Amino acid sequence: MITEIQDYWNHRIHDLEMTDQPVGTRGFFDELDDYRYDKLRYLPQLVDFSFYKGQRLLEVGCGIGTDLVRFAASGARVTGVDLAQTAIDLAQKNFALHDLFPDELRVANGEALPYPDASFDVVYGHGVIQYTADAAKLIRECHRVLKPGGTGIFMVYNRVSWLNALSKVMKVPLEHEDAPVLVKYSIAEFKTLLAPFAEVRIVPERFPVKSRLHGGWKGLAFNTFFVGTFNALPRSWVRPLGWHLMAFCRKG
Ligand SMILES: C[S@@+](CC[C@H](N)C(=O)[O-])C[C@H]1O[C@@H](n2cnc3c(N)ncnc32)[C@H](O)[C@@H]1O
Repeated sequence: MITEIQDYWNHRIHDLEMTDQPVGTRGFFDELDDYRYDKLRYLPQLVDFSFYKGQRLLEVGCGIGTDLVRFAASGARVTGVDLAQTAIDLAQKNFALHDLFPDELRVANGEALPYPDASFDVVYGHGVIQYTADAAKLIRECHRVLKPGGTGIFMVYNRVSWLNALSKVMKVPLEHEDAPVLVKYSIAEFKTLLAPFAEVRIVPERFPVKSRLHGGWKGLAFNTFFVGTFNALPRSWVRPLGWHLMAFCRKG
């Protein structure tokens, strides 16, 4: 199954369709960076990329390194692993174009991390657990390589969310719905998965923002009606329905 997952991601760089800049150029990385933090505007508010200066940080499933570059730019000592060689090749270019030097960027399986116990202060995995073959194994590995007292930050998709419901009602597939594995979690299931950690705080996030991905009448209805209406509802009512479940965990 891991080979199938690896093959899928080697051929589908996340968000690649959101830029027409030549792959691997500065323009390519800048446009994907703009797109990411516009769509995920909650992310830099919730994760302080500048907080980990001097700390050893591992990103599992780092993709093209968009978040990892941010951690590194603020002085974290970063390592990135991903199953896909194409992602790692692009992450290396991304770092080089920013004159940044990771400790290591390499192809590796998050379910069998090539690092000794207690190697890192922080392990970060955004949008990865839901695509792997054995999520519990990946979490055990992340926990193992963390130092005691270290921080785990993870994001999975919320099954009980506005986007999952909308995608079913409107019959619009989710991004990467064709991936070999795509698991959506309830908050309770995500907490169970994170059981190895001494402390876990889950924050539902990712509410509707105008879509650049979807056109036609469905895209128009979403952008002109749904986004404004949903966001007019008090956030405290709709908070549990956020599409992304962000987990902030501490190893005991
Ligand atoms: C949706 S992309 C997210 C990439 C990046 N974290 C981001 O947010 O842009 C999922 C990534 O997880 C990687 N991945 C999936 N399973 C993995 C595993 N077991 N070990 C390492 N990487 C994995 C894929 O290769 C892919 O690059």
